[in-house]
Amino acid sequence: MIKKIMATGLAAGLLVAVGTAQAAEDPIATRQAIMASVGAAAALAGSMMKSEIAYSPVAGKSAIATMNAASHSYGAFFPDGSNASNTKAAEAIWDKPDGFAAELAKFNAAAEKAMAAAGKKGPADLDAFKAAMGPVFGTCKSCHETYRKKN
Ligand code: HEC
Repeated sequence: MIKKIMATGLAAGLLVAVGTAQAAEDPIATRQAIMASVGAAAALAGSMMKSEIAYSPVAGKSAIATMNAASHSYGAFFPDGSNASNTKAAEAIWDKPDGFAAELAKFNAAAEKAMAAAGKKGPADLDAFKAAMGPVFGTCKSCHETYRKKN
């Protein structure tokens, strides 16, 4: 029994180690995958806000939780030297690290607040969802303006 628990723990530890190694080896692909999930969550949220699809608290919670997870992890994938050609991350990220950190902090604060407002079951109705998610959307543009390449 104890052996089995230890083996399971060890396997989980290995998985984490492998995951970390992959992320470290390819920070560009990792952060692009995170932002792609943010984009997908924004599309889901936007469709509900425009009533293109019906609002549901589970879907609202899912979109908010995706934003929240991204806002916690995103900043970890901009090591020095990861400003290669296959990324839209602007030089300003490395030139003005404090400014980039401030944008990340805004994103994180808004997402955490939305997460708290969502409660266990998600915002009860569309108005509650808009109130929670609106401030998160407010943080996309100001970061992209300075820290994402225009093209
Ligand atoms: C703290 C800064 C920051 C915030 C906040 C932020 N982004 Fe981004 N976003 C970036 C950067 C930098 C890139 C380019 C990353 C790269 O190419 O390596 C990016 C890329 C993207 C992409 C392209 C992903 C891809 O396929 O490569 C989408 C979509 C996106 N962001 C949507 C959003 C939305 C929606 C929000 C708000 C909910 C948001 N972002 C908030 C910095 C930010």
